[in-house]
Amino acid sequence: MVKVSIIGSGNVAQHLIQAFEKSTETELIQVFSRKKDTVSHLIAKEKITNNYNELKEADVYIISVSDNAISKVSSELPFQEKLVVHTSGSIDMTALDSKNRKGVFYPVQTFSKNKPVNFKSIPLCLEIENQDDYTILEKIAKSISDRIYTIDSPQRKSLHVSAVFVCNFVNHLYHIGNEICENSNIPFDILKPLIKETAEKVMLLSPNEAQTGPAIRNDHKTIEAHLAFLTNETQKNIYKIITQSIQENVKKL
Ligand SMILES: NC(=O)c1ccc[n+]([C@@H]2O[C@H](COP(=O)([O-])OP(=O)(O)OC[C@H]3O[C@@H](n4cnc5c(N)ncnc54)[C@H](OP(=O)(O)O)[C@@H]3O)[C@@H](O)[C@H]2O)c1
Repeated sequence: MVKVSIIGSGNVAQHLIQAFEKSTETELIQVFSRKKDTVSHLIAKEKITNNYNELKEADVYIISVSDNAISKVSSELPFQEKLVVHTSGSIDMTALDSKNRKGVFYPVQTFSKNKPVNFKSIPLCLEIENQDDYTILEKIAKSISDRIYTIDSPQRKSLHVSAVFVCNFVNHLYHIGNEICENSNIPFDILKPLIKETAEKVMLLSPNEAQTGPAIRNDHKTIEAHLAFLTNETQKNIYKIITQSIQENVKKL
């Protein structure tokens, strides 16, 4: 069985631990966590270490720590010539220390510790420095997910920017919608079927086909009324720039 170790104990690491614990083709032999308690509800205590020198022999070491700590953590590993991968969408594979064989194991999903996910449906983007290592990385990927992609560092950068638009920015727009509702004593729940339908529609139609609203209708009267309603300058600017982007896109079609 392929032996995997996870270094990190945050949102992604905790979901990876649960996915590998379920897998029958890989063995999660150890987790490095600075504070052992953080992951003690997910894995046997004897498999948790907070000391790099105690890391056992594994086929793949998955570093899933904050982006700005990946380089430092990879250089602190006390071994050489092992396969070491990170899980970041935005960090280049070359950020990993050259004393080990490098790779990337990027799951394209938004993870929060307390929100369960079905790992099988999460796309895993793989990149590898030495082609000989692809088989083993693919094997561990396939053991937890049904969607495996080979994506190089420049492609991953594009994918990550795209993910910020479709996930992080969209979620912030939910926040603005929530704030506007709260100011008028309207429960955010009223908007949830609309949010759900918007996400479901784009599974069947292209984003262009799915677009509705005053911007695509070029409804100046409504747009002006909405801008007059908004008092927060940042929200006004977001409204204007997204309206402009929708209208410029229509001209290109
Ligand atoms: N969250 C997502 O939705 C998501 C999705 C895809 C990919 N990713 C990527 O996955 C990686 C982990 O993200 P995350 O959201 O799981 O982060 P997170 O929840 O913020 O957790 C960060 C982890 O890094 C550890 N850490 C930070 N600095 C460290 C250091 N100097 N030495 C050792 N450990 C250190 C933290 O340990 P302590 O708890 O001890 O501070 C914690 O375990 C990142 O590369 C991120 O870009 C995240």
